[in-house]
Amino acid sequence: MNNQLLLDNLRCIPDWPIDGVNFRDVTTLFKSPEALKEIADEMCDFYTNKGITKIVGIESRGFVMSSAVAVKLGAGIVLCRKPGKLPCKTVQESYAKEYGIDTIEIHEDAINENDVILLHDDLLATGGTMLAACNLVKKFHPKKIYCNFIIELNSEFPKSRELFDKDIEITSLLKF
Ligand code: PRP
Ligand code: MG
Repeated sequence: MNNQLLLDNLRCIPDWPIDGVNFRDVTTLFKSPEALKEIADEMCDFYTNKGITKIVGIESRGFVMSSAVAVKLGAGIVLCRKPGKLPCKTVQESYAKEYGIDTIEIHEDAINENDVILLHDDLLATGGTMLAACNLVKKFHPKKIYCNFIIELNSEFPKSRELFDKDIEITSLLKF
């Protein structure tokens, strides 16, 4: 069941960025100390004792909770960034967006075969971003991959979970 504290602090903006989209604005969750703590606590409840060694945060709204949860889990953080932002050699993955192709990248020495990875982003919509991030992380052959979102739009995009391999466990804190 959706957590009322989080629901009370989530702002929805109708018709943004385009008509017909009901935009879930996580910045109002992040600015509330209580909601911020609740998200971190719930994520830690999911992932304590899973042996997570690194959290891969997806630019940009995925960075915020990745940091808080990594500290609590005793894990490191890897930044999964849009192209041209990381200074050293990277591994990349491109994916189709509604208009054109997008690319994300991770430093080539950021993940190794002993890592247990938690990929985190704020929102699962079409799943294109997280699928690309999963495919990117798989290139490093980690021991295991978990995926987490604050919000999953499963009424609007009911097939997004089907994009992912069955051995990737997916959790989300709020489902609409
Ligand atoms: C949004 C959101 C997720 C992604 C979800 O990010 O924060 O990362 O889209 O959409 P999908 O499931 O259809 O791929 P955006 O690309 O707007 O960038 P931002 O986080 O930097 O604002
Ligand atoms: Mg994003």
